[in-house]
Amino acid sequence: MMSNSAIDPFWKAKVASEVNRNPHVKDIIEEKCSRCHTPMANVEVNFTGEPVTLLDDGFLNPDNPHYDAAMNGVSCSLCHQIENTPKLGTVEGFSGGFEIAENFGTDRNIYGPYSDPLVNPMINNVNFTPVHSAHMNESKLCATCHNLDTPVLHPNGEAAGIYFPEQAPYTEWEYSDFNGTQECQSCHMPVADGSVIISTRPQNGSLSPRSPFRQHQFIGANTYMLNIIKNNKVKLGAIADDTSFDQTIQNSRELLKAAAHTEIIRPGFADGKLSFSIKITNHSGHKFPTSIPTRRTWLHVTIQDAKNTTLFESGALAEDGRKIIGVDDKTIGTYEPHHKKIVEPSQVQVYEGIMADTEDHLTYTLLHAAKFLKDNRILPKGMDKTDINLPDNIKTYGAAANDTDFIGGSDTVDYEVALPPSTSYTITVTLMYQTLSYGFAQDLYQDDELPEVALMKSMDEKTDLHSEKVSSDQKVVNILP
Ligand code: HEC
Ligand code: HEC
Ligand code: HEC
Ligand code: HEC
Repeated sequence: MMSNSAIDPFWKAKVASEVNRNPHVKDIIEEKCSRCHTPMANVEVNFTGEPVTLLDDGFLNPDNPHYDAAMNGVSCSLCHQIENTPKLGTVEGFSGGFEIAENFGTDRNIYGPYSDPLVNPMINNVNFTPVHSAHMNESKLCATCHNLDTPVLHPNGEAAGIYFPEQAPYTEWEYSDFNGTQECQSCHMPVADGSVIISTRPQNGSLSPRSPFRQHQFIGANTYMLNIIKNNKVKLGAIADDTSFDQTIQNSRELLKAAAHTEIIRPGFADGKLSFSIKITNHSGHKFPTSIPTRRTWLHVTIQDAKNTTLFESGALAEDGRKIIGVDDKTIGTYEPHHKKIVEPSQVQVYEGIMADTEDHLTYTLLHAAKFLKDNRILPKGMDKTDINLPDNIKTYGAAANDTDFIGGSDTVDYEVALPPSTSYTITVTLMYQTLSYGFAQDLYQDDELPEVALMKSMDEKTDLHSEKVSSDQKVVNILP
C-alpha cells in the first residue's frame, strides 16, 4: 500500500472531497495530503520553493514536472533518507514532520540498519552514501507518517485552532507492552530465515551475508484496496504484477487472522434464556482496528437450534456486502453505541472510531473532525485506559470508557437471548473486519459529481471484496431433558 499511496483512488477521492467541502483552505489541504502520500514530490518542491498542489495541474497531473516523483509513493529513497532528528517520535515529528537533508551528489546519506556498509558501489552507481543509523530499527521512524494530527475547522469553515488525532498507532504502541519488546518493524518487516547478501555489486563475492534481514512486506489489513488496485491496474497506473498483489493480499489476510482471537466463554441456559460471553483478545501492537477511522471490526453472532434453524443473528452483512444489518450508521446523526450486553438482534458490537465536529455532530469530513464520540477500538495488551497520564489521542471514548471488562488487550461482551425450546443450541461467532465502513463511504459518495469520487465509487461498486473474517469460535449447549 505504501508504494501505491499516490494512486490509491480512495485517497484521491477523499482529497477532492475535502477540498470541495472546504474550498477556502485548498492550499492547506493539498500541502497536508501530499506530505505522506506523495512525499518525494512534496520534498522536491519544498527545496525549489514551488507551491505544493495535487489536483488540477498539480502533482497528480501527468504534465506536472513532479508527477513521476509523486507516483512513486512512499519510495525506498524517501524512507531511507529520513534524518534522525530529535523531533522523531515527538508531536513535532508526527504528521509528516520528517526531515530530508538538502544535500546533493554523494553528500546525500542513505540510512540503513547495518554497520560498516561498503560505500563505493552506491557512491559510484547512484551518488548516495550508505550510512548506518540506529533509527532505522526504531518505531519513531514510522511515527513521522503514521501519527497524524489534522487541523480542525468549525462547521462554518473557520479555523478552530486545535488539532484532531486522526491516526495514532505510534502512541497506541508507546503505551502498550510492545514498547520495549517489539518495534513496528518487528511485525511489519518480518525477519527472513538465515542471512542475505544485500547487494548484487561487487560481483567478486567479497560481500558477506547480513543478518537479521528484514523483509519489506509492510503488510497491513487493507486487502480491500489492494484488490481494487489490482483489478484496475492499468487505469490507476500500478506497476506491480498480479502475482505480487495476490501474494500481498494473502499475507494481509494472514496478518489479520493473527490480529485477534475470538472465544465464546461461560455458555449457560436458564429460564428460557441462553447466556454466554464473547472475549476478543487483541494480538496486534496497537489498537485493533488502528489508524484511519474508516476501519471497523465487529461481531457476527448466530444461534441455531438442534434442527439448524437460526433463532438469533446479530451483525450479519446485508446483501450488498457493505452494510451491517441492524447497525445505525447513517451519514448524519446516529451511530451504533458500544455494548456491554446484547439482548436483541438489532444490537451489534462494532469496534470503531466515530468522529464529531466542534458542535458535537457526527462527521466524516476529516478537516471537521475535532473529537471522537466513540472510540472502542480494542486496546493493545498493557494499555491501561484508566491511567490518568494517557494522552488524549489514544483514550477510550463513549460507553466503552465505563465498561469494566473493556481492558488492555481485550473486551468481553455478554449476550443474553430469550429462545424457543430446543434440545441444543449452537452458538457461532465470527469477528469481521472492514476497511471502508458503510457510513464513511456513503458520506464520501455524496460528492460524486467530482470525477475522483465518481471513479472511486464505480470501482467500489465493481468489487465484491468488502470485508474479511478475522477469527471465529463455535460452542454447542446441550439442554438436559
Ligand atoms: C502524516 C502522514 C499523512 C498525511 C499528512 C495524510 N495521510 Fe492519509 N494516510 C496516512 C497513512 C499512514 C494511512 C494508512 C492508514 C491505515 O492503513 O489505516 C493513510 C490512509 C489514508 C486513506 C485510506 C486509504 C485506503 O486505501 O484505505 C485516506 C482516504 C487518506 N489517507 C486520506 C488523506 C487525506 C484526505 C489527507 C489530507 C487531509 C491525508 N490522507 C493526509 C498518512 C497520512
Ligand atoms: C517505509 C520505509 C521504508 C521503505 C519505503 C523502504 N525501506 Fe528499506 N528498510 C527500512 C527499514 C526500517 C529497514 C531496517 C529494518 C531493520 O533492520 O529493523 C530497512 C532495511 C533495508 C535494507 C537492509 C536489509 C534489510 O532488508 O533489512 C535494504 C537493502 C533496504 N532497506 C532497501 C530498500 C529498497 C531497495 C527499498 C525500495 C524497494 C526500500 N528499502 C524501501 C525502511 C524502508
Ligand atoms: C513517508 C511517510 C511514511 C513512512 C515514513 C512510513 N509510512 Fe507506512 N504508510 C504511509 C502511507 C501514506 C500509507 C497509506 C497508503 C494508502 O493507504 O494509500 C502507509 C501504509 C502503511 C501500512 C498499511 C498497509 C495496509 O495494507 O494496510 C503499513 C503496515 C505501514 N505503512 C507500515 C509502516 C512501517 C512499519 C513504517 C516504518 C518502518 C512506515 N510504514 C513508515 C506512509 C509512511
Ligand atoms: C505485535 C505486532 C505489531 C506491532 C508491534 C505493530 N503492529 Fe501494526 N499491525 C499488526 C497487525 C496484526 C495488524 C492487522 C490488524 C490491524 O489492522 O490492526 C496491523 C496493522 C497495521 C496497520 C494497517 C491498518 C489498516 O488500516 O490497514 C498499520 C498502518 C500499522 N499496523 C502500523 C503500525 C505502526 C506504525 C507500528 C509501530 C508504532 C505498528 N504497526 C506496530 C501488528 C503489529
